[in-house]
Amino acid sequence: MAVRAQRSDANAALKQIISLDLLDKGRKVVAMGGFVEIPVKRPHPDLQVVLQKKPAFYRSTPDLVSALEGEMNSDQLRLLPRGWYILGDVIVVKIHPSLGQYQNMIGKALLSFYPRCKAVLRDFGIEGQLREPVRELIAGEGTETLHRENGVLFRLDAQKIMFSPGNLQERMRTSRLGKGEFVVDMFAGIGYFSLPMAVHSRPRRVMAIELNPIAYDYLCQNIRLNHVEEIVQPVLGDCARETPQGVADRVVMGMVQVTDRYLSKGIEALRSGGILHYHQTIPSWHYPDAAVKDVMRAAHLAGRRATIARCIRVKKYSPGVVHVVVDARIDRDF
Ligand SMILES: C[S@@+](CC[C@H](N)C(=O)[O-])C[C@H]1O[C@@H](n2cnc3c(N)ncnc32)[C@H](O)[C@@H]1O
Repeated sequence: MAVRAQRSDANAALKQIISLDLLDKGRKVVAMGGFVEIPVKRPHPDLQVVLQKKPAFYRSTPDLVSALEGEMNSDQLRLLPRGWYILGDVIVVKIHPSLGQYQNMIGKALLSFYPRCKAVLRDFGIEGQLREPVRELIAGEGTETLHRENGVLFRLDAQKIMFSPGNLQERMRTSRLGKGEFVVDMFAGIGYFSLPMAVHSRPRRVMAIELNPIAYDYLCQNIRLNHVEEIVQPVLGDCARETPQGVADRVVMGMVQVTDRYLSKGIEALRSGGILHYHQTIPSWHYPDAAVKDVMRAAHLAGRRATIARCIRVKKYSPGVVHVVVDARIDRDF
């Protein structure tokens, strides 16, 4: 059943339905001609309810517990993963250590949920300076994939290269920055920030520095795939050596944990009035002060003045730790 309302009254009707706690979230609002049908859970004396001829349902999230009931005991069923993510046509999932013996079964069940996907990787986390994922193929085959996000194409091998779904909002925000500017992306990876910026904001130039040769190779492929060869200049090497001085309008430091070691390079890369995006992981109870202090201290040591423009929580990183980004304007200190 649903409430049928004129399109012009749809917002008011929806608000009323929500306030009465009657909205059926399992179905979609359907538009038909000049009317919309808003799905409701039950009739109400204040609302005129109709029976829907063509209800549209939201797809329910596939459920591993129902799929594997009978294959393991109830304690094990409780430990099954409730979430996973998909990069292109590869599924990435974390599995509780005690369920190792069932990993292939879990992988196959996930593949059956997503017929367009070709492989499942068990994720054990990210390691080291090069931020390399530790992942095991547990079902299907082929781990190189083409991931599309916000109109940008990323080719990557999901077994060798990280791609953090939790950074989506930050990638979206970055895609709106940098128009006409000279940008330095000090930890470019496969182009996480450089490519959305180049595709959507058209900077004058993006210098994309990457240390890991595998990630660098994908970066080069992705620059071509997205037709931004005129904008993005890939550089294979250590940003501690390759970052230029005093020329950038904007510097992106999209790394965590060790980013503070490179802050002086990032700050020195900027012309007066340039903008720094400093990513870091900090204890959540020190948000945002710990990251702000890093920037203020490094600017002071470099003889520059930092003005904090914005602090953002990008995502929860681990228990009690948040990934943050600090935007700061860096001026000459006269
Ligand atoms: C994967 S991204 C980090 C993405 C994201 N901010 C996160 O960790 O959630 C970091 C990239 O910086 C590269 N990298 C690490 N140290 C570097 C350095 N000194 N110079 C250039 N690139 C570096 C790594 O190889 C990696 O590809």
